[in-house]
Amino acid sequence: MDLLAKKPYSPPSWASHINLIPSHTFSLGHLPTPIHRWNLPNLPNNTEVWLKRDDLSGMQLSGNKVRKLEFLMADAVAKGADCIITIGGIQSNHCRATAVAAKYLNLDSFLILRTSKLLVDQDPGLTGNLLVERLVGAHIELISKEEYSKIGSVALTNILKEKLLKEGRRPYVIPVGGSDSLGTWGYIEAIREIEQQLQSETGTVKFDDIVVACGSGGTIAGLSLGSWLSSLKAKVHAFCVCDDPDYFYNVVQGLLDGLEAGIDSRDIADIRNAKGLGYAINTTDELNFVKEIAATTGVILDPVYSGKAAYGLLKDMTENPKKWEGRKILFIHTGGLLGLFDKVEQMAPLLGNCRRMDVCESVPRKDGIGKMF
Ligand SMILES: Cc1ncc(COP(=O)(O)O)c(C=O)c1O
Repeated sequence: MDLLAKKPYSPPSWASHINLIPSHTFSLGHLPTPIHRWNLPNLPNNTEVWLKRDDLSGMQLSGNKVRKLEFLMADAVAKGADCIITIGGIQSNHCRATAVAAKYLNLDSFLILRTSKLLVDQDPGLTGNLLVERLVGAHIELISKEEYSKIGSVALTNILKEKLLKEGRRPYVIPVGGSDSLGTWGYIEAIREIEQQLQSETGTVKFDDIVVACGSGGTIAGLSLGSWLSSLKAKVHAFCVCDDPDYFYNVVQGLLDGLEAGIDSRDIADIRNAKGLGYAINTTDELNFVKEIAATTGVILDPVYSGKAAYGLLKDMTENPKKWEGRKILFIHTGGLLGLFDKVEQMAPLLGNCRRMDVCESVPRKDGIGKMF
């Protein structure tokens, strides 16, 4: 009954002194998301890894972005917007989630998607996130990587905003990844959710560490601030999949300052590089890892975010087992399954073959149903 309801918001008591407390939130995600033990192979002695399934926060509107959008959409509606503008990579999960959330609330969405110079004048196709965006009627504008880095995401969204204003529309701009100080509340609130789950569901487990992927910084800003302020006090380790750790310490600092948190990002988060070959580019090793984890644990990681973060975590555990021995780790699976569809060609050689079933033509049908074909 709660889904899509607009509700007044009151923060957890430990966050009540923070600036920019949202007045309302829209219930968009299937929350709380489950936490369960993750039976990863070859862990250091007595290390436990648990998984928070934010990939199960919905179906077409799934992953970590839904938590930010609960606050951002409430703000957009409160400000009288009739459409949402946002921006990201060609397979942006954030843009897809925004397009779906907008339609749930009867708003239009305008997405600026970054692609290669070669493809910018072509139809972007229907793979993965693009299929969902186009099904819900998002307006898509393509921009080349070169133009994107020359102009920047803020100026690009402003150009589109001015154009829509001239056409009489009332646009609301959400920045890359939904990572502004308001969106950060999504993961401050997630920490309250985890606190409550630990009290009621998972018995006596106390997490030493939280591990998550980082792409625009909002998720780790919320998690690390929340963990620091709440009773959780778990150390937040982020594996960044683009740019570099210094860049993200600054981004997170900006978000924390926006909330007047009075904390240094370097004191509450440990950010490492897991970019590998580059944003959304995978080595065969990384894709093989995603395949192995799926085949051994049933959990499907996405290749762009959680896949790279988990790859980085297990690599570090192999190289420095003592550091992780005996620790209880909560890995946050932030979703992104649709991004996997963009990798099918690269993945195909890693997967087993299918074959035609061996049946003898003369096996008679025994269920009593007549021959139809
Ligand atoms: C599936 C997925 N996981 C993780 C992230 C990273 O979250 P954030 O942008 O808040 O750093 C993103 C988006 O960038 C994402 O789409």
